[in-house]
Amino acid sequence: MPNPPNKIQIEHSAVLSNIIRECIEQNDGWISFEQFMGLALYAPGLGYYSAGSKKIGADGDFITAPLLGKQFAGCLARQCNEIIKNLAADQLTTITEFGAGTGQFALDFLIHLDSLSRLPDQYLIIETSADLKQRQQQLIETSGREYLDIIKWVDAIPETGINGVIIANELLDSLPVMRFQIDDSGQAKELGVSIIDDRFDWKVSTHSIPEVLQQRLSQYSLPPGYQSEIGTHAEGWVRSIGEKLRSGVMILVDYGFPQAEFYHWDRVQGTLMCHYQHIAHDNPFYFPGIQDITSHVDFSAIAAAGHDADLQVMGYCGQGGFLLSLGLLENVETIQIGATQNNTAANPHSISRSHTLAQEIKKLTLPNQMGELFKVIALAKNYPAPLSGFTMQNRKGRL
Ligand SMILES: C[S@@+](CC[C@H](N)C(=O)[O-])C[C@H]1O[C@@H](n2cnc3c(N)ncnc32)[C@H](O)[C@@H]1O
Repeated sequence: MPNPPNKIQIEHSAVLSNIIRECIEQNDGWISFEQFMGLALYAPGLGYYSAGSKKIGADGDFITAPLLGKQFAGCLARQCNEIIKNLAADQLTTITEFGAGTGQFALDFLIHLDSLSRLPDQYLIIETSADLKQRQQQLIETSGREYLDIIKWVDAIPETGINGVIIANELLDSLPVMRFQIDDSGQAKELGVSIIDDRFDWKVSTHSIPEVLQQRLSQYSLPPGYQSEIGTHAEGWVRSIGEKLRSGVMILVDYGFPQAEFYHWDRVQGTLMCHYQHIAHDNPFYFPGIQDITSHVDFSAIAAAGHDADLQVMGYCGQGGFLLSLGLLENVETIQIGATQNNTAANPHSISRSHTLAQEIKKLTLPNQMGELFKVIALAKNYPAPLSGFTMQNRKGRL
């Protein structure tokens, strides 16, 4: 069971809740869920990502692939090694990571690329959370000083655009979503937040959602009462960032499905999920500011948004298939052979390391862990070569 929030957390949440409450009152008693989620996660100094809680890691609320070990970053580095090699040699190569979390991915990724003698000209980190940005800088200063001259923390991709790779792991799921509910006539009405009995609660708007989104949903004949999400911010993000890519590949990793699976009749409550101390639940109104709120990603909509920005889908598959295609097991086999050769009572360290690695590989690839629910999509512009990450599996036809 999670520990209940402490006094400081409760006070923090109360301050943020008052701000949200004022917004609701100033807006005739109703705000969109999109706005609520934006404030709960990103209100300056108070939102879950903007404030100082631990968030990511064993002692936070959830764990991400780069924190399981070095294999995820290593595989991505091997994919980027191939991309950088294929880009025009006379252009500056830039890797841009959005939402770098603790900074662990950037560190392990650059160490791996360095070992392949393929460091990019620059590694840009774009991070909205001042708290996480500070943690990233501390980690790089203590454990990756040699990369400080190529890493830059910036607010946006330069207007002139970049050549290289854009990477985002678990960024899209953390962007605010529009929520809707299907009414008795089959129309999707926007779900928002009101104050009912002095508490935040769901309230359906009398207005339908925009026609273009209504048409999107009408393909799936959803039943009355069905609730779900539309990743409007994630789609907008892909469009605007995709336009800044002159040549190269955008690699996005997150949990989600193609649209037909996303709006499946079985998912009558949608995909909204909250994380607090490693417990997942579906109440976004629980102590705003101290818990994460996420939604799964509609990868068909992401592919379509990429198309609007002249990006072409190069590949889409489960995270397991992607990492295995990039030599995950070969790497582990080498390490395990090493451990077996040293497998004596005098060397328990290598046995334990081998066990930890096996656990990491299982978490990253098994279908009932991150291997299938997590997907990788690669969107490219002016980049003609195939990507090795999709050698074993490419399901872009399902999008
Ligand atoms: C779920 S965490 C994932 C962190 C990290 N990529 C990992 O795998 O551990 C989401 C990250 O995205 C950041 N973020 C959210 N919206 C962003 C945006 N629009 N631009 C850049 N970073 C953003 C958050 O502050 C956080 O660092």
